Amino acid sequence: MSQVDDNLLKKVISHAKEYGFVFPSSEIYDGLSATYDYGQYGVELKNHLKAYWWEAMVKLNPNIVGIDTAIFMHPTTWKASGHVDAFNDPLIDNKDSKKRYRADVLIEDQVAKIESKIEKEVAKAAKRFGDDFDEKQFRTTNPRVLQNQSKVENINQRLKEAIESGNLGDLKLLIEELGIADPLSGSRNWTEVRQFNLMFSTELGSLAEDSDLIYLRPETAQGIFVNFLNVQKTGRMRIPFGIAQIGKAFRNEIIARQFIFRMREFEQMEMQFFVKPGEELSWYEQWKEKRMKWHQILGLGENNYRFYDHLNLAHYANAACDIQFRFPMGFKELEGIHSRTDFDLKAHEEYSGKKLQFFDPQEEKSYVPFVIETSIGLDRLFLALLSNGYTEETLEDGSSRTVMKLPAPLAPIKAAILPLVNKDGLTEKSQSIFDVLRFDFLCQLDVKDAIGRRYRRQDAIGTPYCITVDHQTLEDETVTLRERDSMQQERVSIDQLPQILSERCSLSRLLRQL
Ligand code: GAP
Repeated sequence: MSQVDDNLLKKVISHAKEYGFVFPSSEIYDGLSATYDYGQYGVELKNHLKAYWWEAMVKLNPNIVGIDTAIFMHPTTWKASGHVDAFNDPLIDNKDSKKRYRADVLIEDQVAKIESKIEKEVAKAAKRFGDDFDEKQFRTTNPRVLQNQSKVENINQRLKEAIESGNLGDLKLLIEELGIADPLSGSRNWTEVRQFNLMFSTELGSLAEDSDLIYLRPETAQGIFVNFLNVQKTGRMRIPFGIAQIGKAFRNEIIARQFIFRMREFEQMEMQFFVKPGEELSWYEQWKEKRMKWHQILGLGENNYRFYDHLNLAHYANAACDIQFRFPMGFKELEGIHSRTDFDLKAHEEYSGKKLQFFDPQEEKSYVPFVIETSIGLDRLFLALLSNGYTEETLEDGSSRTVMKLPAPLAPIKAAILPLVNKDGLTEKSQSIFDVLRFDFLCQLDVKDAIGRRYRRQDAIGTPYCITVDHQTLEDETVTLRERDSMQQERVSIDQLPQILSERCSLSRLLRQL
């Protein structure tokens, strides 16, 4: 995949719609910006992704438990967490195009362009020198690479300082100095930079005059923090332990584009791991490693992931990084791993007046634990799988096919049962196979159209196996099993199908590798 592939993103969006993965929300009314609905195959893939995460967290770690908290929380929660005062994005408008942007993202995109120049330079040299290429030496000596690298560092440093000090004037200055133009119109006619709070609010109560302003949660994490003691006590948990949660979060994103990558309503899978103060950075390293391994097991390509250390630490963190994935738009954040210190629990203690501490029986004292958080956007993970899996192939006979190469344990439909022809009792035989397999696997029985077209339909939705029932099946109880990616067919007996499918398609196949 090239560094930025807009064409691929367009193809993925249209494939996702055509094959029932993702639809624009309320499409009959022309949609609602940055909101999407998951279709019949999308929801299956999403559920499998949730299960892979949940089981890796809660089933495999005896010291991690899961909860499910409300989207609405007491409004003081968001005062304590700092979201009311500090959950802002710096926005800037272009006076000519009337388009609104995040000032920091405009600058980051500029940095990405320079980084992409560096990568092109490295790729060119690697091609030129072949096996003799020493990438490290090239990166540290080539004048053009060094010059661009220093530009990147300089811009990042100024961006970091401007964000940390809240100096919006400096952000504007940086945009002007870098000559950043509106990506759509090319205009450089910008307004001043302003702060914009990302939380959605609504009113609780039926009468406007008695109502309280409440927020739709912008992260699921706070539901975990406010339940820290409930879970610790009722679950008899001892430090270190974790609480996991999957749920919706809402942010009034200024720029909401790039399909399901940045939405206003999205889903997070977050885990807060409570540790002894002073041990947080060692746990932070362990969780970085564990999470990267979890991603790598999906088999989307080792080189498609990288760590990216945060330049601007959030108000609650003493270390933070992203796991970035190579999306069609380039390397972008997929998951955040944050060492959140004792900021949240202490703030909730202060605002609620309740103690949120752990009594350590060994040390015979109570303390407020420190927290390592892993936070992944489910929709971004979904996009990673879809954009990585989307493959157009030209076959030996000159025909083409589009295959969604999803890992078999995550595929929406595990097997399609296809009678070669819709007569001679083959459909009835297929139905009897379906009736056995359906208790363990989501299968489809498809009788319409020629067999080749039915294979293509299953390839497009990522079904790993097609089971073809032919006349020989009636004689010897065997079927052909066609594998999606290789298109290889093997003859197997019907009795073997449950075992074969469960070996190749069960989630535990992934979990065992962790
Ligand atoms: N509790 C920490 C937290 O919320 P974050 O980095 O703001 O941290 C965590 O968000 C993850 O949520 C991100 O890595 C991303 O995958 C996902 N995410 C954040 N904003 C999103 C949006 N507008 N649309 C889709 N996913 C989003």
